[in-house]
Formats: sequence, structure tokens, C-alpha cells
Amino acid sequence: MPCTVITVTSGKGGVGKTTTTANLSAALSRLGQRVVAVDADIGLRNLDLVMGLENRILYDSIDVAEGRCTLQQAMVRDPRAEALYLLPAAQTRDKADLNPAQMKLICDQLRQMADYVLIDSPAGIEHGFNTAISAADRVLIVTTSDVSALRDADKVIYLLERDYHKQPGLVINRFNERLVNSGEMRGIDDVLDILAIDLMGVVPEDELLMLSTDRGTPAVFDKRLAVAHAYENIAQRIMGQNVPLTDYRKRGFWAWLKRLFGR
Ligand SMILES: Nc1ncnc2c1ncn2[C@@H]1O[C@H](COP(=O)(O)OP(=O)(O)OP(=O)(O)O)[C@@H](O)[C@H]1O
Ligand SMILES: [Mg+2]
Repeated sequence: MPCTVITVTSGKGGVGKTTTTANLSAALSRLGQRVVAVDADIGLRNLDLVMGLENRILYDSIDVAEGRCTLQQAMVRDPRAEALYLLPAAQTRDKADLNPAQMKLICDQLRQMADYVLIDSPAGIEHGFNTAISAADRVLIVTTSDVSALRDADKVIYLLERDYHKQPGLVINRFNERLVNSGEMRGIDDVLDILAIDLMGVVPEDELLMLSTDRGTPAVFDKRLAVAHAYENIAQRIMGQNVPLTDYRKRGFWAWLKRLFGR
């Protein structure tokens, strides 16, 4: 099976791109896939922290691009998984950013050794975003359901379609069923009405997730966390398996009322 390069992006900062990249990478590797997670957030890297691999880093992707080391030397293996690697970003911005051509070259090499390459994009739609998107076969948009995240996601979807001819998939993050049912948060249907792209999955709000991030253990390695199952489902869908969406829409009074009135 040919390798698939997936860029995880959002527009708005802080909505969960890095958490999603780390957990989907770990989930895909638990499903027997060879995975490389690439941090494209140059200067503000933290995929290494979320994956708990920061102490193993010797080189970064700029070192690879500028010939100071081989790709294999820069890749950090996750000891908890069979075939899960991190390609770290540079820690500081005094080093030049990767450009799209360099990212493509790196991904071309990674394609020879992985089933999936997941690229963690920086926030925004500037240079770093273009680099992160440049090698992508598929794009995942992560959003929360608040208005500013949705507006930024909408802008990114527009740019992806206009400039890259790509139809991204959507991950709704930090979904809070209680707030949706009490009418305080937009539900899944409302988000889909606004963004009109394919839903790949819904990740619930999980207050313990931050603790797992602090410990450097992606949530999918910790079965107690509610989000672990959500990431596993999305990973399976990425692999083309038919996994029904947890139907949050079927539950709760407001959902019932909406269905009653045909919405
Ligand atoms: N489903 C969730 N439930 C609870 N907390 C979450 C969830 N997803 C992400 N978070 C928390 O939100 C914060 C931001 O997440 P993350 O760093 O992944 O966002 P980001 O989009 O990568 O941010 P940036 O744009 O700065 O790179 C972190 O503290 C993370 O633990
Ligand atoms: Mg991030």
C-alpha cells in the first residue's frame, strides 16, 4: 500500500492540532501501521513533548534539509510502539524555516519507509502552513465549535480548495455533550452546516488529556481516557475502515427536539 501523507491543520491556534497528530499517529501505529509524525511547527515545536520523546532528540528536520545529518539520524523512535517515529522541528527560529521544496524532499524519503506520515502544522495561514501542506495527500482540519475557530477553519478550507485543490476531512475537538444538550455549545450538525466538509470524527472534551500530555503519554496509550476510543475510531476511518460515528446526535433532549422538527 502506498504511503499517505496527512497534514493536520486548523487556522486558529490552540484547538488541538498537536494533540490530534500525536494521538492519531500512536493510534495508527497500534493498528499495525508504520508511522512518522512530523513536527512542522518550526520554532514553537511541542509534538515531541506531547509524544514524550523530547529527551531523545539529537537532530531536527532543518539539520536533515541542510545536510548535517541523515533522515534516519534525525528520526526518533517511540519505544512504546512497534513502528512509530517522530521527526522533530527545530527548537528556535534562528534556524531558517523549512521551505515547501525541502518538506517535499523529506516526505518523498519518508514515503519509502512509512505507511502514514502525519504532519503537525503551525497555526495560521502563512509560510509555515504552506510548507506543512506542500507534501500532503490528505488534510485534516481540527476545530472546536466556537465561532472564531469555525471562521478560521472555514478560511483554511477555502484556501485548500482554491490553492491546493484539496477537500479536507474534519475533526471536531473538545466536544462537550452536556453543553450541547443544554444549548450552550454548537452541535455537530451546526458545525457541519457551517463547514460543509466530511466529518472524520469527534473527540470529546477530556480534562485528563492535559495531564497525559504533561506526562508525555499520548492518550491512546491510556485506556482510561475517554478520548482514546475517539482517536482509535478516526485512525480506523483514515485506514478506510467503516466505523460508525459515535452518534452524539441521537442523545439528549435538544437532539430529540431537533429531530422532531426535522433538523
Ligand atoms: N479533547 C480535548 N480535551 C481537553 N483538552 C484538550 C483536548 N484537545 C486538546 N486539548 C488541550 O488543548 C491545549 C491545546 O492543544 P494543542 O497544543 O494540541 O493545540 P494546537 O492546535 O496544536 O495549538 P498551537 O496552535 O499552539 O500549535 C492543550 O493543553 C491540550 O491538552
Ligand atoms: Mg500545536
